Amino acid sequence: MPGPEAEKDKKDFRPQIPMKTEGFFLRGSASLDWGMSNRLSRIFNPKSGRTVMLAFDHGYIMGPTTGLERMDLDILPLEPHIDVLMCTRGALRSCIPATTSKPVCLRLSAGATILRELSMEMVGDIDEAVRLNAAAVAVQCYVGEPGEHATLSNLVRTVDAGNRVGMPTMGVTAVGKEMARDARYLGLATRVLAELGAHFIKTYFCEPGFEDVVAGCPVPIVIAGGKKIPELEALKMARRAVGQGACGVDMGRNIFCAEDPVAMAQAVRAVVHENEKPEKAFDLYQTLKGEAKGKKKR
Ligand code: R5P
Repeated sequence: MPGPEAEKDKKDFRPQIPMKTEGFFLRGSASLDWGMSNRLSRIFNPKSGRTVMLAFDHGYIMGPTTGLERMDLDILPLEPHIDVLMCTRGALRSCIPATTSKPVCLRLSAGATILRELSMEMVGDIDEAVRLNAAAVAVQCYVGEPGEHATLSNLVRTVDAGNRVGMPTMGVTAVGKEMARDARYLGLATRVLAELGAHFIKTYFCEPGFEDVVAGCPVPIVIAGGKKIPELEALKMARRAVGQGACGVDMGRNIFCAEDPVAMAQAVRAVVHENEKPEKAFDLYQTLKGEAKGKKKR
């Protein structure tokens, strides 16, 4: 008869239960390595498949733009309401406490300002993204602009370097001053970036034809907000974008330049993650804004 020692060593392999082989929730992302998938699962919510990224990297070309004069004061109140901080290393190290649990999408391309040709960028080292515990890196690409070759090369080099360490790359379809943001151009640019290996793409919403842009791009798309527009309009744009297949937003000015940025972040979140109607999300915005004003008066 086996003694207590033998009982302790008895193994239970449960052979009758087949091991599950799960797919991955993001489009075009089923063949990635574990680290890459894990990082993408921090950027995109595995339940909704979507994300609310807060873009506040504008200073890298524009200096202290409206709404971002004081990143320490302007960004931290928004942090609880968004999913991802998208910024430069300078903003991160100087203004964001390292105690944050929010994933970071680190802007890795740089080297131009609004004073000169914007498309003349280079790209930083992937080691810096690893050092900063980034969940993804962002590289701006200027398809059809003077810096097309340089910026597409930046993307290819970054994807190669990121693949070595499990770091996803977000390709950004930057649009030059003279260029149309229509479905034909954005469809071309997003597809090129995806084929060069970008793991997800940031582009602009366009009408008509955004669903064709999404359909023709084999990896997830998030939209930039673009110039500040009235809050209800921005919520409608976000709703139309996710309704036509975008996996969320990487929004800046339409959040941090809103009359109440904290309320706007929550309204955008309701649209993106809960499929809230824009009008309802705008009601939420107005209510939260009113409550915040009430608190200030007291
Ligand atoms: C532009 O310089 C940056 O890449 C921004 O992150 C991007 O334009 C998104 O911000 P916004 O929603 O303000 O357009």
